Amino acid sequence: MTNPTPAPIPPSTPDTTADATADATATRTTAISIRNLKKSFGSNEVLKDISLEVATGEVVCVIGPSGSGKSTLLRCVNLLEEPTSGQVFVGADEMTDPDVDLDGVRRRIGMVFQSFNLFPHLTVLENLTVAQTKVLKRSRAQAREVARHNLERVGMAHKEDAYPAQLSGGQQQRVAIARSLSMDPELMLFDEPTSALDPELVGEVLAVMKSLAAEGMTMMIVTHEMAFAREVAHRVVFMDDGYVVEAGTAADVIGNPQEARTRSFLHRVLNPMVIDASEITDEGVADLV
Ligand SMILES: Nc1ncnc2c1ncn2[C@@H]1O[C@H](COP(=O)(O)OP(=O)(O)OP(=O)(O)O)[C@@H](O)[C@H]1O
Ligand SMILES: [Mg+2]
Repeated sequence: MTNPTPAPIPPSTPDTTADATADATATRTTAISIRNLKKSFGSNEVLKDISLEVATGEVVCVIGPSGSGKSTLLRCVNLLEEPTSGQVFVGADEMTDPDVDLDGVRRRIGMVFQSFNLFPHLTVLENLTVAQTKVLKRSRAQAREVARHNLERVGMAHKEDAYPAQLSGGQQQRVAIARSLSMDPELMLFDEPTSALDPELVGEVLAVMKSLAAEGMTMMIVTHEMAFAREVAHRVVFMDDGYVVEAGTAADVIGNPQEARTRSFLHRVLNPMVIDASEITDEGVADLV
C-alpha cells in the first residue's frame, strides 16, 4: 500500500473536556466521530448503534449488502439524514448539535454520489466555478484557476468546454470529483461512485480516488470494489442489518474475515455466479448484494 499511514485516533473526545490542549489534539487528528448513532425511518430501524471514527488522512471503505444502511450512515455524517439519536462530529464540530453552523461545516465536506448531478446546461468549467463564486465568494478568475487545477488532477483539463452530455460516465464522475475538490473539502464522502459506470470506465475513477488517497485526503467510501478497498483503504468496515459487524485492516476484513456474515457477503461478492442453497427461499433468491 502506497498510502501514508494516518495519525492514530486519540482516545480523547472533541467536546467533553475543558482542556484546550486535548481539544486541539482531537481536532487535528479526528476527522469524523460517530457515536452510538441510531436512525429509524418510521418503525424501520436502519442504523442500530453505530460508533466509528475516521482519522485525518485515513481512507475508510464501508462495505455490506444492499439495505444494510451504508448510504444512510454516510448521509448522517453531513446530516443529509437526521439521526434519531447519537452524535456525529466533523472535526470538533458536532453536526447533531442543534446550534451547529450546518452550512459552514457542510462546506468542508465533499460528497460524490453514484449519479454525477452535473448541471447539463453548463460546461465542465462552469460546473466547477458556479459554487465557488456563489458559496465561497471567489472571483471568477480565481474560481477558474482553481477549477483548472482540479480538472488537471482528475485528467479532464482537455474537456473544460464540453457539456456533460458529451462526456462518458467515467469522465462525468471525474468532473464531479473535481467539482467537489474545487470547494477545498477537508474530507470526502463517496457513495458507490463507480456503480453506475460501465465496467471499462470504473478504473479511471478509482485511479483518481487512489491518487487522492495518496495525497492524504480523508475519505469515507461506500463501495463494492473489493480490490480497490483492499489496495487503498486503511480500514474496512463491514455493515449488515444496521450494525458494524466487523472493522479492521483490509487484509483482515477482506482477506481473513472473522464473522460468518462477513464471509458470506464476501463469498457472494467475489463469486457472483454462485448462489448458496440457503439463499433461495419460497420467494426466490433472497437479497443478494
Ligand atoms: N428516505 C428513506 N425513507 C425510508 N426508508 C429509507 C430511506 N432511506 C433509506 N431507507 C431504508 O433504509 C434501509 C437502508 O438503506 P440504505 O440506502 O442506507 O442501504 P445501503 O446499504 O446503502 O444499500 P445499497 O447497497 O442498496 O445502496 C433500507 O431498508 C431502505 O429502504
Ligand atoms: Mg446505498
